[in-house]
Amino acid sequence: MDNFELYNPVNLIFGKGEISKISSNIPSGAKVLLTYGGGSIKKNGIYDQVVAALKGVEVIEFSGIEANPQYSTLMKAVELSRAENINFILAVGGGSVIDGSKFISVATPLSGDAWGILTGEAKIESAIPLGTVLTLPATGSEMNSGAVVSRKEINEKLPFGNPLCFPKFSILDPTVVASLPRRQLVNGVVDAFVHTLEQYVTYPNNAPLQDRIAESILITLLEIGEDVINNPSDYNLASNLMWSATMALNGLISKGVPSDWGTHMIGHELTALFNIDHGQTLAIIGPNLYRTLFDSKKEKLAQLGRRVFSLEGSDEKVGLEAIDKLQEFFTTLGMKTKISELTDKAETAPEIIFERFTKRIWLNIGEKGLITPKLAKEIVEMSI
Ligand code: NZQ
Ligand code: ZN
Repeated sequence: MDNFELYNPVNLIFGKGEISKISSNIPSGAKVLLTYGGGSIKKNGIYDQVVAALKGVEVIEFSGIEANPQYSTLMKAVELSRAENINFILAVGGGSVIDGSKFISVATPLSGDAWGILTGEAKIESAIPLGTVLTLPATGSEMNSGAVVSRKEINEKLPFGNPLCFPKFSILDPTVVASLPRRQLVNGVVDAFVHTLEQYVTYPNNAPLQDRIAESILITLLEIGEDVINNPSDYNLASNLMWSATMALNGLISKGVPSDWGTHMIGHELTALFNIDHGQTLAIIGPNLYRTLFDSKKEKLAQLGRRVFSLEGSDEKVGLEAIDKLQEFFTTLGMKTKISELTDKAETAPEIIFERFTKRIWLNIGEKGLITPKLAKEIVEMSI
């Protein structure tokens, strides 16, 4: 096992009716920027619950943070936040609203070019404290310090992370799952599943506890995935999806073990280029990345096959079958397996991704640095 530090200061508040606890978690005297997306929270009653819980608090609203939050939109919120001297941000939404709000929280006090937050050139020294009300279990953003921001003018989608971005609190009320459209539920199950795989399908590292926690998340998602998509108002199913998705990317299962993240890095490019949903990009790329890197990942793929999919046989057989089972799980949920099913420009993707990886000097990604721009191109070619 590798050395590690575990730091996660998020006060996670889980359960039915807990949105009312916002009031006791916002500091007194706060001037709050309430951020949300395209309006789903006004239709499903979450907005009303949040407003009721904010009674007596000074609140300025910023709505319209889109899926794959856009830099230009977020910069408008930064201007508002500066003009209004905001000192607390409350994000109510899915990964996009929460990620966008993390960006607003660090960009508001920043002098200089805020795009530098994404390129790594800006020095992040302070942040406006942030609380969240999660409405879509998927990304884990509610309990981690990372965020992803898009800039469509230059077809970019880049991640950043900073310990200052950990939410002060996050409220997870599983009843919010009931109003999710099927497509977003599928995205959520797949995103949580692939987050776990990114931190598990690498190489054995003498970390049986981390492995078994990861396997528990995968098995739980396999058990409940289809059911929760078909019955989102079932509270027990929704609770288990929500907790699994948070556990998949709150930093715990990556401690002391290698991580890959190649599927995500290639997937983000597909979203930037063709606006394909994040979860859908992962469902396409993940299995092909594992096929391409089979020799290097064989032991963990075989372990996945045996322990998660209950397969039997040699490492070679079980490992290969595990990849097929994985793809089958995604398609059963309703995911497409090819880029060309989602855009008519699919054949342009391999070369563009090769160029972008090269330009960004992403020359050796993945747990062993084996994903070169050329290999990323091959994985995308397999996925057309
Ligand atoms: O905009 P609104 O009206 O809120 O509608 C949203 C949006 O259209 C809707 N929605 C959310 N909760 C709902 C709901 N509709 C009905 N009822 C509800 N309860 O769902 C749509 C998608 O929302 P979005 O926030 O975009 O989805 P998701 O949570 O999957 O977030 C995706 C973003 O997170 C990034 C992705 O790259 C993408 O930009 N990620 C963030 C990560 C992180 N911070 O750690 C890691 C992930 O790997 C991922 O990259
Ligand atoms: Zn993801």
